Amino acid sequence: DAERTFVMVKPDGVQRGLIGDIVSRFEDRGLKMVGGKFMQIDEELAHDHYGEHEGKPFFEGLVDFITSGPVFAMVWEGQDATRQVRRMMGETDPAESAPGTIRGDYGLDLGRNVIHGSDHEDEGANEREIALFFDEDELVDYERVD
Ligand code: CMP
Repeated sequence: DAERTFVMVKPDGVQRGLIGDIVSRFEDRGLKMVGGKFMQIDEELAHDHYGEHEGKPFFEGLVDFITSGPVFAMVWEGQDATRQVRRMMGETDPAESAPGTIRGDYGLDLGRNVIHGSDHEDEGANEREIALFFDEDELVDYERVD
């Protein structure tokens, strides 16, 4: 079934000028962008978004990093979109990511890994993250012509 998933180019990806490349990869794959927002994440949103990692040793660094500069938040729609995006991103650790994946091509380290996508093994993570970043009226529907 067609589903929607949340994807975000992190501050390192924005600073390195990778937004266009990343958007192109998902467009070329046939996914449809139904929401997009260039924005700055504040402390509160960072805590809400990464709440599951609160208390972990890397949490404070993660919040500092994700609030350090603008991000490009997106919603992509398509068949099995959450899993498709995860596969195209590669592993959380760029060092473990295959060449040809976004992190395998561009990721520097576990923190500066260029992109975030909803976890397909975490039931409802996509809907939860979309709702955190987008109002309903910021998501649009239209036909993609291939
Ligand atoms: P992301 O998919 O955005 O979700 C949580 C993020 O925490 C992850 O990508 C990494 O960028 C970041 N992170 C930093 N250090 C670690 C770590 N030791 N283990 C897992 N994730 C980490």
